[in-house]
Amino acid sequence: MAPAAGPHDVADLGLAPVGRAQIEWAAQRMPVLATVRERFSAERPLAGLSVGACLHVTAETANLLRALSAGGADVALCASNPLSTHDDVAASLVTDFSVATFARRAESPADYSGHVDAVLDRAPALTVDDGCDLVARLHLERPAQAREVIGGTEDTTTGAVRLRALSAGGGLAYPIVAVSGAATRLLADNRYGTGQSTLDGVLRATNVLLAGARVAVAGYGNCGRGVAERARGMGASVIVTEVDPLRALEAAFDGFAVMPMQSAAELAEVFVTATGNRDVLRSEHFAVMRDGAILANAGHFNVEIDIDALVELAAGRRRAVRPMVEEFDVGGGKRLLLLAEGRLVNLGAADGHPAQVMDISFAVQALACEWLVQHAAELPPAVHDVPVEIDEAVARLKLTTMGLAIDELTPAQRDYLDSWLA
Ligand SMILES: NC(=O)c1ccc[n+]([C@@H]2O[C@H](COP(=O)([O-])OP(=O)(O)OC[C@H]3O[C@@H](n4cnc5c(N)ncnc54)[C@H](O)[C@@H]3O)[C@@H](O)[C@H]2O)c1
Repeated sequence: MAPAAGPHDVADLGLAPVGRAQIEWAAQRMPVLATVRERFSAERPLAGLSVGACLHVTAETANLLRALSAGGADVALCASNPLSTHDDVAASLVTDFSVATFARRAESPADYSGHVDAVLDRAPALTVDDGCDLVARLHLERPAQAREVIGGTEDTTTGAVRLRALSAGGGLAYPIVAVSGAATRLLADNRYGTGQSTLDGVLRATNVLLAGARVAVAGYGNCGRGVAERARGMGASVIVTEVDPLRALEAAFDGFAVMPMQSAAELAEVFVTATGNRDVLRSEHFAVMRDGAILANAGHFNVEIDIDALVELAAGRRRAVRPMVEEFDVGGGKRLLLLAEGRLVNLGAADGHPAQVMDISFAVQALACEWLVQHAAELPPAVHDVPVEIDEAVARLKLTTMGLAIDELTPAQRDYLDSWLA
C-alpha cells in the first residue's frame, strides 16, 4: 500500500506515476546531483532541518529536492511561477518523495500567495528561492520568523539584485548565497544551456535551415557567445553586435563578423537578442530588414525587441502563422516574424535547459545549502557569492561523471606557484 500523503495542495495525486517517470528520466541525466544525493544520504548534513523551497515545479527541481531530503531535510515546496508547474511532478513529489508540495499549474494569484504561506508555515531553517518571493514575504510579513532562518539560496540574477538592495539597506535578516553567479553555472546554464536551447526554440518554431543562413546575435556575453557558437556549428555565418569594446574584440578574435546592428539588420535572416537590455531591435532596424526576417529573444525580459514599434509599423496587419510565430506585415511587401511574443524563445518555443544543465545548477544549490549549515555561525546576513570550492567540487564531479580525469599539481609545482621567488 502507498504511504499516506503528507501535507499538500496539488491538482491530482493520481498523476503521480506519470510524474515519477519524468523525475526518473531527468535523474538519469543528472549524475552530479545523484552523487551529491548519495553522499548526503550517508552523511546527513541537513538532518533535522526544515527546508522551504520556492522553485519551478519541474522534474529537475524534484531531483534537487530528493538530494536535500536524502541529506535529512524535511522539504516543502511551492511554485516560483504557476505557469511552469508540472502537476504530475507535483503529485509524485507528494506521493513518492514525501515532499510537502503546494502548487497547481496556472493557480490563481491568491492560491499562489497562499502556497508561499503554506511553505513558510512550516518554519523553514533554510530557504531555496527563485525570484525572491519566499524571502520577500518573510521579510515583509514575518520579520521575527526571518531572524530564525539559518540561511538561503537564490537562483536568479534578478532575485539576487533585489536581495543586494535589501542587504545594502541593512534589512536582510540572514545570509543568502546567490547561486546564479557561480562559474559552473555561467558556463553550463548561460553559455551552453542557453546556446543550445535558444537555437532549439528557433528551429522548433520555424524549421528553417541554419546552414548557409546569416544569423545576427546581439550581445556577446555568456548567453550570446553560446548562441553564436552553436549557430556557427550549424553552418550559419554569424554576425555579432555589441556595445562593449572588449566583448566586441573577443567576438572578432573568435572569428565572428562584428558590426553595428544598423548594418547587421540589412544582412541577417535570423536575429537573436541576448543582452539584458531594451530596444536592441527597434524601428530603424525593422525598416531595413529583409522580408521574412526572424526575430527571437533569449534575454530575460521581453523588452529586447521593441514590440510596440513592430505593432505600430504593422498597423493591424499581423497574424499567427505557426505556433509561437507571429507575422507582422510592415508594408512594402515586407513581413517580419516574431517568435514566442518576444519572450525567452528557449522557454516559449522549446523545453528550456536540458536536465544536464540543471544538474550542474542544482548541484551548486545543494552544496550551497550544506555550506550554509556548516558556516551559519560565522556568516553575516548578506548576499554571498558561491564559494570557489563549491564551483570546483561541482566541476570535478561533472568531469568524473563524464569519465574524465585531470592532472594534479605535484608538491614541487604547488611550491613553485606559491612562491614569489623564481
Ligand atoms: N534564455 C535563458 O534561458 C537565459 C539564461 C541565462 C540568462 N539569460 C538572460 O540573458 C541575458 C544575457 O545574459 P548574459 O549572461 O549573457 O549577460 P552578460 O551581461 O554576460 O552579456 C550581455 C552582453 O550584452 C551586451 N549589450 C548590452 N546592450 C547591448 C546592445 N544594445 N546591443 C548589443 N549588445 C549589448 C553587453 O555589453 C554584454 O556584453 C540576460 O537578460 C540574462 O538574464 C537568459
